[in-house]
Amino acid sequence: MLTFIKILIASIFVGILAVFWNRSSFDPESLRGARVLVTGASSGIGEQMAYHYARFGAKIVITARRKKILEKVIEKCLSLGAQEALYVSADMSNETDPENVVDFALEKLGGLDYLVLNHVGKSSFAMWNGDVDHIRWLMKPNFFSYVQMAWRALPSLEQSKGSMIVVSSMAGKMSNPFAAPYTATKCALNGFFGSLNHELAMKKSNVSISICTLGLIDTESALNAVRGIITTPAYPATEAALNIIITGATRQQELYYPWFTYVMNLTKDWFPSLTNHIIRNALNYNP
Ligand SMILES: NC(=O)c1ccc[n+]([C@@H]2O[C@H](COP(=O)([O-])OP(=O)(O)OC[C@H]3O[C@@H](n4cnc5c(N)ncnc54)[C@H](OP(=O)(O)O)[C@@H]3O)[C@@H](O)[C@H]2O)c1
Repeated sequence: MLTFIKILIASIFVGILAVFWNRSSFDPESLRGARVLVTGASSGIGEQMAYHYARFGAKIVITARRKKILEKVIEKCLSLGAQEALYVSADMSNETDPENVVDFALEKLGGLDYLVLNHVGKSSFAMWNGDVDHIRWLMKPNFFSYVQMAWRALPSLEQSKGSMIVVSSMAGKMSNPFAAPYTATKCALNGFFGSLNHELAMKKSNVSISICTLGLIDTESALNAVRGIITTPAYPATEAALNIIITGATRQQELYYPWFTYVMNLTKDWFPSLTNHIIRNALNYNP
């Protein structure tokens, strides 16, 4: 037990150091005039990212399905200082929309410096009920559209020495109950973009990929989904959004937010039984 506590303290220390190290090298001016495409920006973390990029004076294209809400986000982005702000409505479970969105951004902004992949299809937080069709569908918005958009944007990102930012989750690192379909899609993302990262590095590509691992964030959809089941605190979407942007701007390969998700990711392999015990008992479940 004493060894466990020592390792835990050392891991926490490393995690805190990593967070501060990343922050210190960030130059907000690097985002002035940057050409950014943010997906899933009508609510939650994506909406907050749009506002941060706007405050930094970026040129942004945002996308999601709900036009009316996107229009309001665009208005606010312009009032916050975005050099340009445009929206395109799209459904990421549709076959052709992901590529059309990238084409729209490339045409309107004249290229891309940041591709921020953040949208997420709806999936209930509940025990898996055998619905294979739902998983087949969820893979479209949560995984295939990310892959399509990455490939479409890559030539422009190569030219601009740009970055892809992939918003993932602790679910992509360790399995949790009540989220089997979602977990499958996030593991697919981590696997794919991890491989692509290696391949780009081996090809000496200019493009960086940042994979962002998030814990529970206080977005409306997440809080509604876990209400009554998870009682641990949720972390602020605006802070999560800023950390994601800084990670991309500093070309870091990984973000863990909040910081203790880094520790959980380390310790899950060292103490699997203890980790499983904690996960299963952290949730309210009354069969
Ligand atoms: N919140 C958390 O606790 C948490 C934890 C870990 C990771 N994350 C990750 O963080 C990211 C953002 O999460 P969030 O909580 O901010 O989500 P959110 O508030 O539910 O926002 C999801 C966004 O995706 C869009 N979207 C949903 N289905 C779509 C579709 N078929 N086509 C196009 N756009 C679609 C939504 O807009 P429309 O409805 O207008 O289309 C919305 O803008 C996700 O990748 C999520 O997995 C979140």
